[in-house]
Amino acid sequence: MHSATYRLNAVATMAFTGLLALCLAVSVTELAHKANPEASLKMHGVHHFKPLGGNDEAVLSFQMKGDLSSCFSWNTKQLFAYIKIVYETERHVRNEVTVWDKVMTSTEEARIEEAFLSKYALVDNGSDLRGRDVNLTLAWNVMPYIGALYFGEKVFAAKMPSEYMSDGRQG
Ligand SMILES: *[C@@H]1O[C@H](CO)[C@@H](O)[C@H](O)[C@H]1NC(C)=O
Ligand SMILES: *[C@@H]1O[C@H](CO)[C@@H](O)[C@H](O)[C@H]1NC(C)=O
Repeated sequence: MHSATYRLNAVATMAFTGLLALCLAVSVTELAHKANPEASLKMHGVHHFKPLGGNDEAVLSFQMKGDLSSCFSWNTKQLFAYIKIVYETERHVRNEVTVWDKVMTSTEEARIEEAFLSKYALVDNGSDLRGRDVNLTLAWNVMPYIGALYFGEKVFAAKMPSEYMSDGRQG
């Protein structure tokens, strides 16, 4: 009489237990997976650097040599990599501007050796960028199929040009 509900229950319990075991297995293998991402990043040139309505605006290019492919395990859906420019000014203690990002869905895409233009302009709140020491932070989020997202980053020191530059000049 009760057998149908009972069976359903048993199936559900088994499925749930199976899921738990799978999650546990994933966590354990994730712990065993050692990522060893390598990257170097530097400012390559300045497309333009000018004051715009009281705020400094710069479009930079970067030279990157990176291999984030070791972040991929069988449980990795994709990486989300981005470059932030982090600096301090007298006006604002912490400034963080994301100037480039890329979704990487394969180990091939996680290897980069090229110069490229930033996707988004660096816009200061103010006109404090000339000659400014900045950190180029290359960061990446690892997005798994199952389990928690984690991230890593590497920081590279750089310096903004001491003078504004018109379009096209490389510095
Ligand atoms: C830049 O990076 C260095 C080294 O990681 C750190 O000591 C410094 O505080 C950073 N500067 C800013 C403005 O975040
Ligand atoms: C710049 O900073 C000031 C305060 O420090 C703020 O009121 C203003 O909205 C900011 N401007 C922009 C464009 O973010």
